[in-house]
Amino acid sequence: MNRTHSSAHSDAPRDEGHRQILDTLQEHGWSEQDNFLPHDLTLALAQECAGLAASGALALARVSQGAARALQPEIRGDRIRWLDAGQSAACDQYLAIMETLRTALNRRFFLGLEEYESHFAFYAPGDSYRQHRDQFRHDDSRIVSVVVYLNADWLPHHGGELRLHPEGSSMRDILPVGSRIAVFLSADMLHEVLPATRDRLSLTGWFKRRT
Ligand code: OGA
Ligand code: MN
Repeated sequence: MNRTHSSAHSDAPRDEGHRQILDTLQEHGWSEQDNFLPHDLTLALAQECAGLAASGALALARVSQGAARALQPEIRGDRIRWLDAGQSAACDQYLAIMETLRTALNRRFFLGLEEYESHFAFYAPGDSYRQHRDQFRHDDSRIVSVVVYLNADWLPHHGGELRLHPEGSSMRDILPVGSRIAVFLSADMLHEVLPATRDRLSLTGWFKRRT
């Protein structure tokens, strides 16, 4: 089989998927899309995240930055672990997909995004993250926020919505359904994570400009 042809062919659905994300982001300042990751990859990432949680390898997340950096589980209750290149085949595959989204964002919006940082996040039942924006007060390097969900068979009554509060329009709830991606502008979008009745797994990340 002609390799060049076959890889060009298999990229077409991804390019179309990216185009839809970019169109909606441009129009509303946020976007969501289902089946962003292949099902098998979502499964592998979910297993890795659950394994890290079970072995105590996730650390309680902190709020703010610099001297103000603090543990405040009543504000933010998730446990996280930052991703490193080479940590697993699944993470590398995920990072490669995010790299295609970074390129697409730059091509469309000329954002000059140079880096992507991402962590696993694990919310136990009842954990939440109160209303916040993702850009820090003294560091505007985070430009675009993305959350990819890793939860099989998530139903509305499980809760755990990502609640967006877009300026000037009504709030929007996004259920953390496996393989779904949520994308929004880090500086503008006020948002929160509502408590769930079951474990809530995700990969959260930020496309950044170099500072
Ligand atoms: C965050 C965040 C949203 C989500 O980690 O900053 O807002 O749906 N996450 O997990
Ligand atoms: Mn956030």
